[in-house]
Amino acid sequence: MVELSLAAPPAAAAICCPVPQAAEAARGIAAVETRALGVTHAGRPLLRGIDLRVEDRRVLALVGPSGAGKTTLLSCLNRMIELAPGLRLKGEVLLFGESISRRDADAVRRQVGMLFQQPVLFPGSIADNALFGLRHAGLAPRRSLPERLERALGEAALWDEVKDRLHEPAASLSVGQQQRLCLARALAVEPRVLLLDEPTSALDPRSTEAIEERIREIAKSRAIVLVTHSLGQARRVADQLACLDRREGPGGPAGELFECGPCQERLERPQSPELARFLDSERA
Ligand SMILES: Nc1ncnc2c1ncn2[C@@H]1O[C@H](COP(=O)(O)OP(=O)(O)OP(=O)(O)O)[C@@H](O)[C@H]1O
Ligand SMILES: [Mg+2]
Repeated sequence: MVELSLAAPPAAAAICCPVPQAAEAARGIAAVETRALGVTHAGRPLLRGIDLRVEDRRVLALVGPSGAGKTTLLSCLNRMIELAPGLRLKGEVLLFGESISRRDADAVRRQVGMLFQQPVLFPGSIADNALFGLRHAGLAPRRSLPERLERALGEAALWDEVKDRLHEPAASLSVGQQQRLCLARALAVEPRVLLLDEPTSALDPRSTEAIEERIREIAKSRAIVLVTHSLGQARRVADQLACLDRREGPGGPAGELFECGPCQERLERPQSPELARFLDSERA
């Protein structure tokens, strides 16, 4: 599967849940908003009551323990969830104010790009991989491809390292370079929202720093949802924080949001015992 794309704005503060109050709504439309979002599998809930707001040109860090439903939640935001057999979605996802269920799924995935935890490469060269989404969508005239290729690889901080070997196999790159190539592929179709699922979990500190720098840069023109297990990473790059964990409720345990707000503020003064414990465990 391709990193199809997903996007983002400015605005002063509050970015995530709870769902917009009148004053927030007056400030503008969120890049992504979920309303009472739930996911079930064979009648069992996986996610429940997710009300989330992601502002344009901001980074929202989504944290929570393994199995809480972070990847499942990301996949709801660009209709990738529909490709997983047996999962059912309830509630609503709005992309810049418009319900994604009423839009063409491919168009949604171009606007909401996704980067997976492990780099997913296609057979072929570095250039083939970077341009895959663009060619697949027939979005750009052929003559513009070299320029788009350089721009996307530049945005992903990879151009200088690969400009002399664009036609070599993508598989010859290091894992850190492969992850940035996947980022370039997602960026090439110019998504308005970018979903990053633990993009640095397989990377060394230097590659991690390069990706984090890119995230801040990319967020100047797009909305980003960053799944991370590192509160340190959230502190370094995120404007907003959303915490997800499994909680008991109707139908059984399911992922629920339990803390959302400005990232630095919540990390300094957590409002929930769960986040306080998470912070303690990172300090230990
Ligand atoms: N296609 C599926 N069919 C059935 N259950 C699923 C499916 N996808 C996810 N789940 C279940 O949903 C729950 C949440 O999974 P998910 O992968 O979203 O967690 P996560 O928070 O991303 O975890 P991790 O941090 O380990 O990546 C898990 O119990 C998982 O088994
Ligand atoms: Mg996951």
